[in-house]
Amino acid sequence: MLTYVDGRFVPDGEATISVRSRGLNYGLGCFAGVRGYLADDGQQVFVFRLDDHVRRLELSAKMLFLRSEPFAQARQAVLEVLRKNEVHYDVYLRPMVISNSTELSPVLREQDSSFIVYCLPLKRYIDKESIDVCVSSWRRTSDNAIPSRAKPTGGYLNSALARREAFDNGFDEAILLTEAGLVSEGSAEHVFIVRDGQLISPPSTEHNLDGITRRTLLALAREDLGIPVLERPIGRTELYTSDELFLCGTGAEVTPVRSVDRRKVGDGGVGPVTTRLKSHYQDVVHGRVPERLRWLTPVWG
Ligand SMILES: Cc1ncc(COP(=O)(O)O)c(C=O)c1O
Repeated sequence: MLTYVDGRFVPDGEATISVRSRGLNYGLGCFAGVRGYLADDGQQVFVFRLDDHVRRLELSAKMLFLRSEPFAQARQAVLEVLRKNEVHYDVYLRPMVISNSTELSPVLREQDSSFIVYCLPLKRYIDKESIDVCVSSWRRTSDNAIPSRAKPTGGYLNSALARREAFDNGFDEAILLTEAGLVSEGSAEHVFIVRDGQLISPPSTEHNLDGITRRTLLALAREDLGIPVLERPIGRTELYTSDELFLCGTGAEVTPVRSVDRRKVGDGGVGPVTTRLKSHYQDVVHGRVPERLRWLTPVWG
């Protein structure tokens, strides 16, 4: 595979950083996670909401006093990684901006920024139809401590601790609460519940990432499927009493949850609202919904 590093395409093995890099030592950086889907013709690949991902990365970098490549160049780099690697399959892309200074001490400076894009084949991020989740004993890092809105590399220690605890206790994934005890998000997914036919999700002011899939699903529910939506804080015990619950994200797509802390969600099956959204989302990302084609960037032709 070829990886893009600061204007050059290099074989993966040569896309390396120093052990002294601040990106490694202090986790100084931010990233994006983007998906490309193989179209129904078996040739074309559609990158989903590329501009939104590049824009969010730009804003994340700005927040962290790092510098992403100019928008058009960053966008082109993502597409070129797919073209140079002859990608005709479902793919995950990881554009990153890291501090690549090798000096001691955690300091953020625009001029130390490195811009990287690599890709890998990815079909499913969570390889189950429906999952068992727990509420983590770890709290979500406050946006005022390590900006959760920015997808910061260092912030994923919080996610990793929650996931490890979940796995050790026999769950598939964790939901983290804010310091105030309200639902924030999963380790790499947003949370939606359904109550009395209404779709509810906590806004990003609940210390979660400004999520592109979350925004997508809110729009699809409201505009395409006529499902009422509401963004508001969610209490922990609402997870236990919801009719339906699912996690979503670029990786996770729409992942139904069948239990929370060993309490069955609804009757334990995948509910009707989740089923409709999951199926519509798959149609949209694969280019089967003409009105949503503007969210897709074709890689080929
Ligand atoms: C912490 C976290 N929350 C939520 C998400 C989902 O966000 P998006 O839909 O933008 O991919 C991600 C990543 O993809 C994430 O890392």
